[in-house]
Amino acid sequence: MRILVTGGAGFIGSHFVKRLVAAGEDVVVLDKLTYSGNPANLQGCDVELVEGDIGDADAVAAAGADCDAAVNFAAETHVDRSILGAREFIETDVLGTLVLLAWARETGARLVQVSTDEVYGDIEPGSSSSEDDPLRPSSPYSASKAGGDLQVIAAVRTYGVNASITRGSNTYGPNQYPEKILPLFVTNALDGEPLPLYGDGCQVRDWLFVEDHCAGVELVLREGQPGEIYNVGAGEEHENVELTDRILEYTGADRSLIRHVEDRAGHDRRYSLDTTRLRGLGWKPATKWEDGVRTTVEWYRDNRDWWKPIKRSGGYREYYERQYAERLR
Ligand code: NAD
Ligand code: TYD
Repeated sequence: MRILVTGGAGFIGSHFVKRLVAAGEDVVVLDKLTYSGNPANLQGCDVELVEGDIGDADAVAAAGADCDAAVNFAAETHVDRSILGAREFIETDVLGTLVLLAWARETGARLVQVSTDEVYGDIEPGSSSSEDDPLRPSSPYSASKAGGDLQVIAAVRTYGVNASITRGSNTYGPNQYPEKILPLFVTNALDGEPLPLYGDGCQVRDWLFVEDHCAGVELVLREGQPGEIYNVGAGEEHENVELTDRILEYTGADRSLIRHVEDRAGHDRRYSLDTTRLRGLGWKPATKWEDGVRTTVEWYRDNRDWWKPIKRSGGYREYYERQYAERLR
């Protein structure tokens, strides 16, 4: 099979590309190489990387020529950035998805849309979101992802596009851009910099190791039903304070680095997924949270050459200043 992987130079996409190439698939990557797209993530991987925008129909047609399927990881992905401004989120996560759907309709290729548990909004303790629940996104990011999902559902129903959606939970592992909590806190801890915990730090996320996420997406690509949605979550629900404690333990950094700072606006309290449907296809997570977090911390400790240049870059420092300077003062 020839497979187009959009956003394949980012965090999860690059792991997915390496997984497909290892399985002997013919893969082409289309990636705009935004701040989080990094060709170094694909180093040593025998894959064609095309720089381009999923919102550009010609770029999609050229990169997707002769492809039997596409998996869409391309997105603006960070909630805090979406609060600062949502335009790019709508352009890529909604309009870009629309362009991919038009391509899939025209070519008959299969499409897997990689989405997120955040489209359900937060959920009370004791409950979990299932695929048929209403979408109640809280942030401009999750609202954009929900918009993309709804276009996929409409294209399946209206045009018969062969598409499925995955909704993964908070994913972690090597090669994650150091803006999300885990890589931010690990690299700050290794540098002796403060760890800015929003609010009381008791927000709950379901932590999914990147390889387990990719295994779920691959299974949906190969065996998922057209028009079906599949939640992907490990059931590893932990508060941010607990995650922070693990990071301090595994990096050996001091507790005094923790700072409780002003909360994120509209902050979702808890996500939780019912994953019965995907488990019914034979998927189950292979990585325990403690092991995954330890492996990830070790990767950042051993790969400073990957993240130091990112954290030193002007774009990163500008974002960090905007997001944290006031909070940490
Ligand atoms: P990432 O930010 O690391 O990677 C995104 C990639 O998309 C980058 O390589 C970027 O250059 C590329 N990109 C952005 N705009 C593009 C465009 N217009 N055209 C082509 N390429 C473009 O993000 P990630 O964490 O790897 O997330 C990948 C997907 O998984 C996203 O759709 C996200 O919503 C979803 N997801 C992420 C998580 C998570 O915890 N990281 C959890 C669930 C779902
Ligand atoms: P994040 O990694 O941004 O993922 P998401 O918002 O998509 O779940 O945030 C995970 C949790 O960590 C969330 O509850 C917000 C919190 N958080 C902090 O407390 N401090 C930070 O600096 C960041 C980036 C996140």
